[in-house]
Amino acid sequence: MNQVAIYKNPSGFNVYGAAKVLFACKDPEVIISGPYETGKTRAALTKIHLLLSKYPQARGLMLRKTYKSLHQSALITFEKRVLPCPSDSPQSPLRRFGGEKPEWYDYPNGSRLVIGGLDNPDKILSSEYDFIYVNQVEELTLDEWEKLTARCTGRAGNAPYTQIIGDCQPASQLHWILKRDRVTLLHSRHQDNPMLFDPQTHELTIQGRKTMDTLDALTGIRKKRGRDGLWVSVEGQVYEFEMAIHLIDRFEIPKEWIRFRAIDFGYTNPFVCQWWAVDSDGRLYLYREIYMTQRTVRIHAKQILKLSLNESISYTVADHDAEDRATLEENGIRTRLADKRISVGIEAVAERLKLAGDGKPRIFFLRDSLVETDQDLETSYQPTHTIQEFSDYIYPTVREGKSADEKPIDKDNHGMDAKRYAVMSRAQKRSLLGIVAQGKVKGW
Ligand SMILES: Nc1ncnc2c1ncn2[C@@H]1O[C@H](COP(=O)(O)OP(=O)(O)O)[C@@H](O)[C@H]1O
Ligand SMILES: [Mg+2]
Repeated sequence: MNQVAIYKNPSGFNVYGAAKVLFACKDPEVIISGPYETGKTRAALTKIHLLLSKYPQARGLMLRKTYKSLHQSALITFEKRVLPCPSDSPQSPLRRFGGEKPEWYDYPNGSRLVIGGLDNPDKILSSEYDFIYVNQVEELTLDEWEKLTARCTGRAGNAPYTQIIGDCQPASQLHWILKRDRVTLLHSRHQDNPMLFDPQTHELTIQGRKTMDTLDALTGIRKKRGRDGLWVSVEGQVYEFEMAIHLIDRFEIPKEWIRFRAIDFGYTNPFVCQWWAVDSDGRLYLYREIYMTQRTVRIHAKQILKLSLNESISYTVADHDAEDRATLEENGIRTRLADKRISVGIEAVAERLKLAGDGKPRIFFLRDSLVETDQDLETSYQPTHTIQEFSDYIYPTVREGKSADEKPIDKDNHGMDAKRYAVMSRAQKRSLLGIVAQGKVKGW
């Protein structure tokens, strides 16, 4: 930036670069894309807040793919960084409805900001809005985005223009966001965030040095997207995992479905415990997981038992560490040894991920299965749950072609391993059941 670009807005928040362009933009669909920590969310939140403050009776909607994920991310920034004071304090000009899980905010001028997730579409899509803010648009399908745009066409009629604003992290270069002509796509940079770069001198701040060091230490696709802001596809990915197919909304798991757990031990690396359910066709559903560093197995055991209360868990399959397995056993969790064969396991998982004759895969992951976010992993931009490992789980020498026995890069694979143990535990069962069905083994 050769010129210090400051847009001084009434909340005293100065915006730079792409955030400044976002503030001035009146296009009907605008998305700000960029690497981690470039101020995308704060800028988008501030803009919708200022629009609602400016235009009386205006209706706004803030949402993410699921309500829970919004609640744990942008809603915190909104309360802490955007509102003049927390909405539950007596001085707050805004009134919050819904308590700890806000459903909407009412502004003193009659404007309203509705809060939601696409996991509850009926609740949010039955109204018209003047302004919509979508956090992490890359998680949405084009169809979902279009449904939202249909709710933001000016019929609400309380502001001189309507706008749907999104923020996103770069994803695959084939993503619909890049192909949609109607979207004005802005690219934010670390230099746009005054917490990281001094706007006058353009020098890194102390915080900026720390953040950039952490981002520089990233590798692979995570670095290309999260540090460099590039829209790139993953090369050499072990699994053909697709959010739109394999990641599904939560549902009540029927009582009669078999449930089991799969564990990969770790302390410096994450300890992963996954809870799986099996439907009557043998499909697997990951419905809960612990993904946490720096906790002892003893503490994990307590939490695992507590979370499994009222559930009938058929078995727990675990990594082979003798001491950790003994600790689990002492604490009431008996485990079976996992089948750790990598190539066979990967093939079994890959087979399940493929669409079967009925158009469905044989393995699913329920959204928001993580019990608690590991803050250390989050602040160092490491994967915080299994789904996030898929894009980092790659073969090393993809360009030269891979030999049959080649193993994926041994990094960020803790959830991948637990999932493999889970799938292999069913494979054993299936082959045995096959033998039973053929009458070769009786009474198994
Ligand atoms: N213009 C700004 N002025 C002050 N702080 C900012 C500004 N932009 C971003 N920040 C701060 O930087 C951090 C990262 O911003 P955030 O909007 O969450 O980034 P992103 O969504 O790009 O990851 C937050 O703590 C935010 O408050
Ligand atoms: Mg953000």
